[in-house]
Amino acid sequence: CLWVRNLRLKRRLPGPFAWPVVGNAMQLGQMPHITFSKLAKKYGNVYQIRLGCSNIVVLNGDSAIRKALLQHSTEFAGRPNFASFQFVSGGNSLTFTNYSKQWKMHRRIAQSTIRAFSSANSETKKAFEQHIVAEATDLARSFSKLSDDGQYFNPAHPLTVAAANVICALCFGKRYGHDDQEFRTLLSRLDKFGETVGAGSLVDVMPWLQSFPNPVRSVYQNFKSLNEEFFAYVKSKVVQHRNTFDPEVTRDMSDAIINVIEHGKESTLTKDYVEGTVTDLVGAGQDTVSTCLHWSLLLLAKYPNIQAELQESIDRVVSRDRLPSIEDKSSLACLEAFIYETMRYTSFVPVTIPHSTTSDVTFEGLHIPKDTIVFINQWSVNHDLQKWKDPHVFNPSRFLNEDGSLNKDLTGSVMIFSMGKRRCIGDQIAKVEVFLFTAILLHQFCFESDPTQDLSLNCSYGLTLKPLDYRICAKLRGKPINVA
Ligand code: HEM
Repeated sequence: CLWVRNLRLKRRLPGPFAWPVVGNAMQLGQMPHITFSKLAKKYGNVYQIRLGCSNIVVLNGDSAIRKALLQHSTEFAGRPNFASFQFVSGGNSLTFTNYSKQWKMHRRIAQSTIRAFSSANSETKKAFEQHIVAEATDLARSFSKLSDDGQYFNPAHPLTVAAANVICALCFGKRYGHDDQEFRTLLSRLDKFGETVGAGSLVDVMPWLQSFPNPVRSVYQNFKSLNEEFFAYVKSKVVQHRNTFDPEVTRDMSDAIINVIEHGKESTLTKDYVEGTVTDLVGAGQDTVSTCLHWSLLLLAKYPNIQAELQESIDRVVSRDRLPSIEDKSSLACLEAFIYETMRYTSFVPVTIPHSTTSDVTFEGLHIPKDTIVFINQWSVNHDLQKWKDPHVFNPSRFLNEDGSLNKDLTGSVMIFSMGKRRCIGDQIAKVEVFLFTAILLHQFCFESDPTQDLSLNCSYGLTLKPLDYRICAKLRGKPINVA
C-alpha cells in the first residue's frame, strides 16, 4: 500500500514526445518562452522536455515557480555543468557556477561589495546617484547631437555605453566617452553573449554540433573568443589595481574585492577570483540595464499619450529648474508603474539563467533527480492569467491604486530578477539606474518614432530579449540642464 502511494506521489514527469538525437529541439521555435508557456497548457506547469542528450524540467506560472524557488530553494539552486559556462569570467564566475560552499562565499563577497558602493549609507547612496546622473546627462548630450536637425537615430549603442559606464565607474573608477572606439567594439561584441547562455541554446546539449561547420558551432566559437577578450580587458584593469593597491584607500569596487579576497581573513578564494568577480559584475550590470532602457524608449515612442502623462507629472514634482533625483521616486508612482509594466510586459529576461537540481527532489508530486537541468520561465509568471488581467496589454496604470499610489503587492508579483538563492544581486542598483535614466531622459526630451518605420515590438531571443533596431528622435523639451 505504501509502495502504491509512493508510486502515485512520484509520478513520471509529463511532457511532449522527444525525438531521438535532437529531442524537442526542433519544436522550440524563435521564442522558446512562448513555446514553454504553450506546452504548460497541455502538460501542466511542471513538465519535462529533452534537448539533445539532456532531460530538462521546465517550470511555469506564478505559483509553481514561487514554490520551487522559495520553498525548495536549495534543491533548485544549482547550475548545470555546461561546457560554455567554463569560458565565462576566466572560469571563476559566480553566476555560472554550481551551488557549493565556495559559491556561497563568492556570492556574499560580491553582494556586500555592491551594497558598500550603492546603499550602505547616505554618502555611498549619493555617490552612486552622482555616477548615474553624470552618465544620464552625457547620454542626453549624445542624444541631442544624434537628433540634430530632427534626425532619427538608433539609441541601442549609446544606451549600452551609458549602462556600461555606470558599472565601470563603480568597478574601475573610470568611465569612457561615447566615441571611445575600443570600448564600443568590446561592448558590441558582448551583445552576443546571451545567445549562448540563454535557456534553449543548443551548444551545450548537443556537443556533437561542434564537430562540423554549422551556425551553432560558429556561435559557440564566437562565444569563446568574446569571453576571452572581455576577461582579458577586465583582468588588465584588475592587475593595474593590484599593482597600485593601498589598503588604506579603497578607490572602487576592484580595490574592495582585492581587499576581501586577497587580504581578508575569512576568504578561502584564490586571487583569480578577483578578476572573475569583477568580470561577472561588469558583464551582468551592463547588458540587462541597457536592454531595459532600450525597451523603455521604444514603449515611450510607441505610446505618446503615456509619455506625455509621465512628463506632466515629472514637471509637476520636479519642476523645470533641476533634474529629477532619487528623492523624487516616492512622488513619481506613475513612473515607477511605467517601469514595472515595461519589465512585466516585455519580460526581457524571459527565462532565468539555467538552473539545476542540487539533490533529488519531489515537487508537485513529481520526482526530479539530482543534476537535472531546470528552465524557469519568468515570462509565464508575468503573463499568468491567474494573476494578471489582460496580460497582453501594455497598461502601466494596472500598478496604481485608486489614490494614485503604487500597488506594492502587485509590483512584487513582477518577476524579472528571479527569486530565491539565485536571485539577481544587482536588483537594487538596477532599479535605481533605470529610474534615474528614465526620469532624466523624460525630463529632457520628447521621444518620437520615425514615421517611415513600423515601430514593432518584435525582438531577438537570448538570455535577454532585445528589440529589433528602431529609430527615434529626441526633441529637447526646453533649455538643457548640464551637470558638470
Ligand atoms: C543574476 C536579472 C542587473 C548581477 C540574474 C538573473 C536574472 C537577472 C534573471 C538570473 C537569476 C537566476 O538564474 O535565477 C537582472 C535584470 C537586471 C539585472 C533584469 C537589470 C534590469 C544586474 C546588475 C548586476 C547584476 C546591475 C550587478 C552589477 C547579477 C549576478 C547574478 C545575476 C552577479 C548571478 C547570481 C547568481 O548566480 O547567484 N540577474 N539583472 N544584475 N545578476 Fe542580474
